[in-house]
Amino acid sequence: MKLLHVVGARPNFMKLAPVLLAGRASPGVEQLVVHTGQHYDHEMSDRFFDDLAIPRPDENLDVGSGSHAQQTATIMSRFEPVLVRARPDWVVVYGDVNSTMAATLVASKLGVRVAHVEAGLRSRDRAMPEEINRLVTDQLADLLLPPSRDAIANLLAEGIPENKIVFVGNVMVDTLLRLRDQARATGMPQTLGVAGVPFAFVTMHRPSNVDQAETLSELLLGLEDLAAAMPVLFAVHPRTRERIARFGLDGAAPSVRLLNPLGYLETIALADAAAMVVTDSGGLQEETTVLGVPCLTVRANTERPVTVTEGTNRLVRSTRQSLGEAVASVLADRQGGRYTARRPELWDGRAGERVIAALAAASLSLPVASG
Ligand code: UD1
Repeated sequence: MKLLHVVGARPNFMKLAPVLLAGRASPGVEQLVVHTGQHYDHEMSDRFFDDLAIPRPDENLDVGSGSHAQQTATIMSRFEPVLVRARPDWVVVYGDVNSTMAATLVASKLGVRVAHVEAGLRSRDRAMPEEINRLVTDQLADLLLPPSRDAIANLLAEGIPENKIVFVGNVMVDTLLRLRDQARATGMPQTLGVAGVPFAFVTMHRPSNVDQAETLSELLLGLEDLAAAMPVLFAVHPRTRERIARFGLDGAAPSVRLLNPLGYLETIALADAAAMVVTDSGGLQEETTVLGVPCLTVRANTERPVTVTEGTNRLVRSTRQSLGEAVASVLADRQGGRYTARRPELWDGRAGERVIAALAAASLSLPVASG
Protein backbone atom coordinates (compact mmCIF):
# COMPACT_ATOMS: atom_id res chain seq x y z
CA MET A 1 0.00 0.00 0.00
CA LYS A 2 1.47 3.33 -1.06
CA LEU A 3 0.44 6.43 0.90
CA LEU A 4 1.03 10.00 -0.13
CA HIS A 5 0.58 12.30 2.87
CA VAL A 6 -0.13 15.97 2.17
CA VAL A 7 0.60 18.61 4.80
CA GLY A 8 1.02 22.35 4.52
CA ALA A 9 0.42 24.34 7.67
CA ARG A 10 1.56 24.21 11.27
CA PRO A 11 -1.41 22.32 12.74
CA ASN A 12 -0.98 19.51 10.19
CA PHE A 13 2.43 18.35 11.31
CA MET A 14 1.50 16.96 14.74
CA LYS A 15 -1.33 15.02 13.06
CA LEU A 16 0.93 13.60 10.36
CA ALA A 17 3.56 12.34 12.83
CA PRO A 18 1.66 9.44 14.45
CA VAL A 19 0.29 8.19 11.13
CA LEU A 20 3.72 8.35 9.52
CA LEU A 21 5.30 6.50 12.44
CA ALA A 22 2.57 3.84 12.46
CA GLY A 23 2.96 3.42 8.70
CA ARG A 24 6.69 2.94 9.06
CA ALA A 25 6.10 0.20 11.63
CA SER A 26 3.72 -1.66 9.29
CA PRO A 27 5.23 -4.04 6.75
CA GLY A 28 4.24 -3.35 3.17
CA VAL A 29 3.46 0.34 3.66
CA GLU A 30 5.32 2.75 1.39
CA GLN A 31 5.05 6.45 2.23
CA LEU A 32 5.77 9.83 0.68
CA VAL A 33 5.25 13.20 2.35
CA VAL A 34 4.42 16.26 0.26
CA HIS A 35 4.55 19.67 1.98
CA THR A 36 2.66 22.35 0.07
CA GLY A 37 4.70 25.18 1.61
CA GLN A 38 1.56 27.00 2.83
CA HIS A 39 3.63 27.68 5.95
CA TYR A 40 7.29 28.29 5.25
CA ASP A 41 9.00 30.20 8.10
CA HIS A 42 11.39 27.99 10.04
CA GLU A 43 9.39 28.36 13.26
CA MET A 44 6.07 27.65 11.47
CA SER A 45 7.33 24.58 9.60
CA ASP A 46 10.80 22.93 9.65
CA ARG A 47 11.10 23.45 13.39
CA PHE A 48 8.11 21.13 13.85
CA PHE A 49 9.65 18.25 11.92
CA ASP A 50 12.64 18.45 14.27
CA ASP A 51 10.49 18.68 17.40
CA LEU A 52 8.27 15.80 16.26
CA ALA A 53 11.32 13.69 15.33
CA ILE A 54 10.01 12.90 11.85
CA PRO A 55 11.91 13.24 8.57
CA ARG A 56 11.62 16.40 6.50
CA PRO A 57 9.08 16.08 3.62
CA ASP A 58 10.09 14.33 0.41
CA GLU A 59 8.80 17.21 -1.65
CA ASN A 60 7.94 20.88 -1.04
CA LEU A 61 5.65 22.74 -3.42
CA ASP A 62 6.76 26.15 -2.04
CA VAL A 63 3.37 27.79 -2.59
CA GLY A 64 3.74 30.44 0.12
CA SER A 65 1.08 32.94 1.17
CA GLY A 66 -1.68 34.55 -0.91
CA SER A 67 -5.41 35.07 -1.03
CA HIS A 68 -7.47 31.93 -0.48
CA ALA A 69 -8.11 31.50 -4.19
CA GLN A 70 -4.48 32.11 -5.12
CA GLN A 71 -3.12 29.79 -2.47
CA THR A 72 -5.62 27.02 -3.22
CA ALA A 73 -5.07 27.30 -6.97
CA THR A 74 -1.29 27.27 -6.67
CA ILE A 75 -1.37 24.20 -4.46
CA MET A 76 -3.65 22.45 -6.96
CA SER A 77 -1.58 23.21 -10.03
CA ARG A 78 1.70 22.26 -8.34
CA PHE A 79 0.34 19.15 -6.66
CA GLU A 80 -1.27 17.62 -9.75
CA PRO A 81 1.97 16.59 -11.55
CA VAL A 82 3.46 15.30 -8.29
CA LEU A 83 0.44 13.09 -7.78
CA VAL A 84 0.42 11.85 -11.36
CA ARG A 85 4.08 10.88 -10.99
CA ALA A 86 3.73 9.22 -7.56
CA ARG A 87 0.61 7.13 -8.31
CA PRO A 88 -0.21 6.29 -4.68
CA ASP A 89 -3.05 4.08 -3.52
CA TRP A 90 -4.17 6.83 -1.15
CA VAL A 91 -3.72 10.53 -0.63
CA VAL A 92 -3.95 11.16 3.11
CA VAL A 93 -4.99 14.68 4.15
CA TYR A 94 -5.15 16.23 7.61
CA GLY A 95 -7.36 18.76 9.35
CA ASP A 96 -8.95 21.74 7.63
CA VAL A 97 -6.37 24.06 6.12
CA ASN A 98 -6.33 25.22 2.50
CA SER A 99 -3.76 22.53 1.65
CA THR A 100 -6.18 19.84 2.87
CA MET A 101 -8.96 20.92 0.54
CA ALA A 102 -6.71 21.69 -2.43
CA ALA A 103 -5.04 18.26 -2.36
CA THR A 104 -8.42 16.57 -1.97
CA LEU A 105 -9.84 18.29 -5.05
CA VAL A 106 -6.85 17.31 -7.17
CA ALA A 107 -6.82 13.69 -6.03
CA SER A 108 -10.59 13.25 -6.41
CA LYS A 109 -10.50 14.49 -9.99
CA LEU A 110 -7.64 12.16 -10.83
CA GLY A 111 -9.54 9.24 -9.34
CA VAL A 112 -7.04 8.73 -6.51
CA ARG A 113 -8.62 7.75 -3.21
CA VAL A 114 -8.52 10.29 -0.41
CA ALA A 115 -8.48 9.57 3.32
CA HIS A 116 -9.28 12.47 5.64
CA VAL A 117 -7.76 12.38 9.10
CA GLU A 118 -9.86 14.54 11.50
CA ALA A 119 -13.00 14.26 9.38
CA GLY A 120 -16.44 15.42 10.48
CA LEU A 121 -15.62 18.46 12.64
CA ARG A 122 -18.13 21.27 12.12
CA SER A 123 -18.38 24.74 13.59
CA ARG A 124 -21.46 25.46 11.44
CA ASP A 125 -19.89 28.83 10.75
CA ARG A 126 -19.19 29.29 7.07
CA ALA A 127 -17.47 32.60 7.73
CA MET A 128 -14.54 30.42 8.82
CA PRO A 129 -12.39 29.37 5.86
CA GLU A 130 -11.69 26.10 7.66
CA GLU A 131 -15.40 25.19 7.68
CA ILE A 132 -15.52 25.46 3.88
CA ASN A 133 -12.40 23.31 3.69
CA ARG A 134 -13.95 20.68 5.98
CA LEU A 135 -17.23 20.50 4.05
CA VAL A 136 -15.56 20.11 0.67
CA THR A 137 -12.94 17.64 1.89
CA ASP A 138 -15.47 15.39 3.63
CA GLN A 139 -17.85 15.32 0.67
CA LEU A 140 -15.06 14.17 -1.63
CA ALA A 141 -13.05 11.86 0.62
CA ASP A 142 -13.35 8.08 0.21
CA LEU A 143 -12.40 7.27 3.78
CA LEU A 144 -13.37 9.50 6.70
CA LEU A 145 -11.45 9.17 9.92
CA PRO A 146 -13.19 11.19 12.65
CA PRO A 147 -11.69 11.95 16.06
CA SER A 148 -14.93 11.90 18.07
CA ARG A 149 -18.51 10.61 18.00
CA ASP A 150 -20.03 14.04 17.35
CA ALA A 151 -17.96 14.17 14.16
CA ILE A 152 -19.43 10.84 13.04
CA ALA A 153 -22.94 12.20 13.64
CA ASN A 154 -22.11 15.28 11.53
CA LEU A 155 -20.96 13.14 8.63
CA LEU A 156 -24.01 10.88 8.74
CA ALA A 157 -26.30 13.92 8.88
CA GLU A 158 -24.68 15.16 5.65
CA GLY A 159 -25.50 11.90 3.92
CA ILE A 160 -22.04 10.36 3.96
CA PRO A 161 -22.40 6.57 3.90
CA GLU A 162 -21.55 4.83 7.14
CA ASN A 163 -19.25 2.36 5.40
CA LYS A 164 -16.85 5.19 4.49
CA ILE A 165 -16.43 6.21 8.15
CA VAL A 166 -14.02 4.61 10.64
CA PHE A 167 -13.81 6.01 14.17
CA VAL A 168 -10.09 6.23 14.89
CA GLY A 169 -9.85 8.78 17.72
CA ASN A 170 -7.58 11.79 17.94
CA VAL A 171 -4.16 11.49 16.29
CA MET A 172 -2.92 14.70 17.90
CA VAL A 173 -3.26 13.09 21.28
CA ASP A 174 -0.83 10.35 20.14
CA THR A 175 1.76 13.06 19.60
CA LEU A 176 0.98 14.80 22.85
CA LEU A 177 1.34 11.62 24.90
CA ARG A 178 4.52 10.58 23.06
CA LEU A 179 6.25 13.92 23.58
CA ARG A 180 4.81 15.25 26.85
CA ASP A 181 7.85 14.28 28.92
CA GLN A 182 10.20 15.75 26.34
CA ALA A 183 8.15 18.94 26.36
CA ARG A 184 8.45 19.14 30.16
CA ALA A 185 12.20 18.61 29.85
CA THR A 186 12.57 21.80 27.79
CA GLY A 187 12.22 23.79 31.02
CA MET A 188 10.34 26.55 29.19
CA PRO A 189 8.64 27.94 32.33
CA GLN A 190 12.07 28.23 34.01
CA THR A 191 13.55 29.90 30.93
CA LEU A 192 10.74 32.45 30.94
CA GLY A 193 10.88 32.99 34.70
CA VAL A 194 7.44 31.58 35.49
CA ALA A 195 8.34 28.23 37.06
CA GLY A 196 6.03 27.51 39.99
CA VAL A 197 4.07 30.70 39.34
CA PRO A 198 0.50 30.67 38.00
CA PHE A 199 0.61 32.18 34.52
CA ALA A 200 -1.58 32.40 31.42
CA PHE A 201 -0.45 31.14 28.03
CA VAL A 202 -2.06 32.84 25.03
CA THR A 203 -2.25 32.25 21.27
CA MET A 204 -4.50 34.15 18.86
CA HIS A 205 -4.52 34.15 15.08
CA ARG A 206 -8.05 33.66 13.66
CA PRO A 207 -9.09 36.30 11.13
CA SER A 208 -12.26 36.86 13.23
CA ASN A 209 -10.10 37.95 16.18
CA VAL A 210 -7.13 39.67 14.62
CA ASP A 211 -8.21 41.12 11.27
CA GLN A 212 -10.32 43.99 12.71
CA ALA A 213 -8.58 46.70 14.72
CA GLU A 214 -11.45 47.08 17.17
CA THR A 215 -11.66 43.37 18.05
CA LEU A 216 -7.92 42.95 18.33
CA SER A 217 -7.69 46.03 20.52
CA GLU A 218 -10.46 44.71 22.85
CA LEU A 219 -8.64 41.41 23.19
CA LEU A 220 -5.31 43.06 23.93
CA LEU A 221 -7.01 45.19 26.61
CA GLY A 222 -8.54 42.03 28.07
CA LEU A 223 -5.11 40.40 28.19
CA GLU A 224 -3.67 43.51 29.82
CA ASP A 225 -6.36 43.17 32.53
CA LEU A 226 -5.41 39.53 33.00
CA ALA A 227 -1.75 40.53 33.34
CA ALA A 228 -2.69 42.35 36.55
CA ALA A 229 -3.56 38.94 38.05
CA MET A 230 -0.75 36.78 36.65
CA PRO A 231 2.04 36.85 34.05
CA VAL A 232 0.64 36.55 30.51
CA LEU A 233 2.83 34.92 27.84
CA PHE A 234 1.49 35.45 24.32
CA ALA A 235 3.07 33.45 21.46
CA VAL A 236 2.31 35.66 18.48
CA HIS A 237 1.45 34.15 15.08
CA PRO A 238 2.89 36.03 12.05
CA ARG A 239 -0.62 37.10 10.96
CA THR A 240 -1.27 38.60 14.40
CA ARG A 241 2.10 40.33 14.59
CA GLU A 242 1.45 41.93 11.22
CA ARG A 243 -2.02 43.11 12.29
CA ILE A 244 -0.77 44.53 15.62
CA ALA A 245 1.76 46.61 13.70
CA ARG A 246 -0.69 47.62 10.95
CA PHE A 247 -3.33 48.81 13.47
CA GLY A 248 -0.77 50.68 15.59
CA LEU A 249 -1.47 48.47 18.62
CA ASP A 250 2.13 47.82 19.63
CA GLY A 251 1.76 49.54 22.98
CA ALA A 252 -1.81 48.33 23.67
CA ALA A 253 -0.87 45.68 26.22
CA PRO A 254 2.44 46.72 27.78
CA SER A 255 2.31 44.14 30.59
CA VAL A 256 1.75 41.19 28.24
CA ARG A 257 4.93 39.39 27.18
CA LEU A 258 4.92 38.89 23.43
CA LEU A 259 6.89 35.86 22.23
CA ASN A 260 7.80 34.71 18.75
CA PRO A 261 5.91 31.65 17.45
CA LEU A 262 7.04 28.64 19.46
CA GLY A 263 7.93 25.12 18.45
CA TYR A 264 5.77 22.15 19.37
CA LEU A 265 7.67 21.12 22.50
CA GLU A 266 7.83 24.67 23.84
CA THR A 267 4.13 25.19 23.21
CA ILE A 268 3.16 22.01 25.02
CA ALA A 269 5.56 22.83 27.87
CA LEU A 270 3.82 26.17 28.43
CA ALA A 271 0.28 24.87 27.95
CA ASP A 272 1.02 22.08 30.43
CA ALA A 273 2.43 24.38 33.13
CA ALA A 274 -0.09 27.22 32.68
CA ALA A 275 -2.87 28.08 35.11
CA MET A 276 -5.00 28.80 32.08
CA VAL A 277 -4.74 28.94 28.31
CA VAL A 278 -6.46 31.67 26.27
CA THR A 279 -6.60 30.78 22.60
CA ASP A 280 -8.49 30.57 19.33
CA SER A 281 -6.49 27.55 18.15
CA GLY A 282 -8.23 24.28 17.37
CA GLY A 283 -5.40 22.09 18.60
CA LEU A 284 -4.93 23.78 21.96
CA GLN A 285 -8.59 23.20 22.82
CA GLU A 286 -7.87 19.48 22.57
CA GLU A 287 -4.42 19.52 24.14
CA THR A 288 -5.62 21.42 27.22
CA THR A 289 -8.43 18.88 27.65
CA VAL A 290 -5.88 16.07 27.78
CA LEU A 291 -3.51 18.06 30.00
CA GLY A 292 -6.37 19.08 32.32
CA VAL A 293 -5.60 22.80 31.99
CA PRO A 294 -8.50 25.30 31.85
CA CYS A 295 -8.91 26.70 28.35
CA LEU A 296 -10.75 29.87 27.32
CA THR A 297 -11.46 29.72 23.61
CA VAL A 298 -12.11 33.16 22.21
CA ARG A 299 -14.63 32.18 19.58
CA ALA A 300 -18.39 32.15 19.03
CA ASN A 301 -18.39 28.42 18.30
CA THR A 302 -16.18 25.37 18.27
CA GLU A 303 -15.93 22.42 15.91
CA ARG A 304 -14.58 20.46 18.90
CA PRO A 305 -17.58 20.30 21.29
CA VAL A 306 -16.24 17.38 23.33
CA THR A 307 -13.58 19.70 24.68
CA VAL A 308 -16.43 21.69 26.27
CA THR A 309 -18.75 18.85 27.30
CA GLU A 310 -16.02 16.52 28.56
CA GLY A 311 -12.90 18.63 28.76
CA THR A 312 -11.67 21.89 30.19
CA ASN A 313 -12.76 24.24 27.42
CA ARG A 314 -15.24 27.11 27.49
CA LEU A 315 -16.16 29.60 24.80
CA VAL A 316 -15.67 33.30 25.34
CA ARG A 317 -16.79 36.24 23.20
CA SER A 318 -14.07 38.45 21.71
CA THR A 319 -14.56 41.36 24.11
CA ARG A 320 -12.59 42.69 27.05
CA GLN A 321 -15.59 42.21 29.32
CA SER A 322 -16.32 38.57 28.35
CA LEU A 323 -12.70 37.66 28.70
CA GLY A 324 -12.58 39.32 32.12
CA GLU A 325 -15.68 37.44 33.31
CA ALA A 326 -14.36 34.12 32.05
CA VAL A 327 -10.99 34.66 33.70
CA ALA A 328 -12.70 35.46 37.01
CA SER A 329 -14.74 32.30 36.75
CA VAL A 330 -11.69 30.12 36.02
CA LEU A 331 -9.89 31.62 39.01
CA ALA A 332 -12.93 30.97 41.24
CA ASP A 333 -13.22 27.38 39.97
CA ARG A 334 -9.57 26.71 40.59
CA GLN A 335 -9.75 28.00 44.13
CA GLY A 336 -12.72 25.74 44.77
CA GLY A 337 -10.86 22.83 43.17
CA ARG A 338 -13.78 22.24 40.85
CA TYR A 339 -11.95 21.78 37.58
CA THR A 340 -12.46 18.31 36.20
CA ALA A 341 -11.84 16.84 32.77
CA ARG A 342 -12.51 13.50 31.18
CA ARG A 343 -10.48 12.27 28.27
CA PRO A 344 -12.80 11.69 25.30
CA GLU A 345 -13.22 8.21 23.85
CA LEU A 346 -10.22 6.94 21.81
CA TRP A 347 -8.04 9.90 22.72
CA ASP A 348 -5.65 7.24 23.93
CA GLY A 349 -2.39 7.54 22.00
CA ARG A 350 -3.22 4.75 19.50
CA ALA A 351 -5.11 6.66 16.81
CA GLY A 352 -2.21 6.60 14.29
CA GLU A 353 -2.21 2.80 14.34
CA ARG A 354 -5.96 2.78 13.78
CA VAL A 355 -5.57 5.10 10.78
CA ILE A 356 -3.11 2.70 9.15
CA ALA A 357 -5.36 -0.27 9.96
CA ALA A 358 -8.37 1.53 8.48
CA LEU A 359 -6.45 2.35 5.31
CA ALA A 360 -5.33 -1.25 4.93
CA ALA A 361 -8.86 -2.57 5.47
CA ALA A 362 -10.40 -0.03 3.08
CA SER A 363 -7.81 -0.89 0.42
CA LEU A 364 -9.21 -4.41 0.40
CA SER A 365 -12.88 -3.48 0.41
CA LEU A 366 -13.24 -0.46 -1.89
CA PRO A 367 -13.84 -0.91 -5.59
CA VAL A 368 -10.95 0.24 -7.78
CA ALA A 369 -11.47 3.90 -8.64
CA SER A 370 -11.82 4.81 -12.29
CA GLY A 371 -9.93 7.93 -13.29
C1 UD1 B 1 -3.66 28.74 8.57
C2 UD1 B 1 -4.96 27.93 8.50
C3 UD1 B 1 -5.59 27.88 9.86
C4 UD1 B 1 -4.64 27.41 10.92
C5 UD1 B 1 -3.39 28.26 10.88
C6 UD1 B 1 -2.36 27.81 11.88
C7 UD1 B 1 -6.19 28.03 6.37
C8 UD1 B 1 -7.37 28.60 5.70
N1 UD1 B 1 -5.92 28.52 7.58
O1 UD1 B 1 -4.02 30.07 8.89
O2 UD1 B 1 -6.70 26.97 9.83
O3 UD1 B 1 -5.24 27.49 12.18
O4 UD1 B 1 -2.83 28.18 9.56
O5 UD1 B 1 -1.22 28.60 11.85
O6 UD1 B 1 -5.54 27.17 5.82
N2 UD1 B 1 2.79 33.78 7.37
C9 UD1 B 1 4.13 33.93 7.62
N3 UD1 B 1 4.90 32.82 7.66
C10 UD1 B 1 4.41 31.57 7.45
C11 UD1 B 1 3.05 31.43 7.18
C12 UD1 B 1 2.24 32.53 7.14
O7 UD1 B 1 4.61 35.03 7.82
O8 UD1 B 1 5.19 30.60 7.51
C13 UD1 B 1 1.92 34.97 7.36
C14 UD1 B 1 1.69 35.54 5.99
O9 UD1 B 1 1.65 36.91 6.11
C15 UD1 B 1 0.33 35.02 5.62
C16 UD1 B 1 -0.37 34.96 6.98
O10 UD1 B 1 0.66 34.63 7.90
O11 UD1 B 1 -0.32 35.82 4.71
C17 UD1 B 1 -1.46 33.95 7.04
O12 UD1 B 1 -1.00 32.65 6.63
P1 UD1 B 1 -2.04 31.60 5.99
O13 UD1 B 1 -1.37 30.31 5.76
O14 UD1 B 1 -2.77 32.24 4.86
O15 UD1 B 1 -3.13 31.43 7.10
P2 UD1 B 1 -2.98 31.26 8.66
O16 UD1 B 1 -3.59 32.47 9.31
O17 UD1 B 1 -1.61 30.86 9.07
